[in-house]
Amino acid sequence: MTLARYVEFAVRGDQLGWLVALEGNRNVPFAIKRAYYIFGTKSGVRRGKHAHRQLTQMMVCLAGQCKVMLDDGRNCEEVALTRNDCGLMLDRMIWHEMYDFSPDCVLLVLADNWYDETDYLRDYDAFKAACA
Ligand code: TYD
Repeated sequence: MTLARYVEFAVRGDQLGWLVALEGNRNVPFAIKRAYYIFGTKSGVRRGKHAHRQLTQMMVCLAGQCKVMLDDGRNCEEVALTRNDCGLMLDRMIWHEMYDFSPDCVLLVLADNWYDETDYLRDYDAFKAACA
């Protein structure tokens, strides 16, 4: 079983350049309620390091590259995000850590709900206990 599920986006373009459109409940498989982006991550930093009780998200690496570790409490998987025409699904109850950011990395995250700190599991042992 693989934890990493991707959605490929159609790339539109002509001699002017390229464009990707992201639409909730169309090529993004949930209604988008929030978008945020992560950039300017310093060398050696690991971000994320949490899971969400309910939130569903999708990550798209718009520029540069980074790695993502996904952990469902039983299996771990590392993926490299290098493409801006492909979204990585981040389901609820997946512990995730992002690292090895290139200096130019811009990571867009789409979410199906607003920011809610009470939805976070930030303690790995508490996450493992919640998975059991
Ligand atoms: P955090 O989840 O710790 O992200 P990272 O590990 O990638 O740096 O969030 C960093 C801060 O940003 C924290 O104070 C919460 C805040 N935040 C918001 O206010 N809204 C949001 O949508 C997100 C994702 C974070």
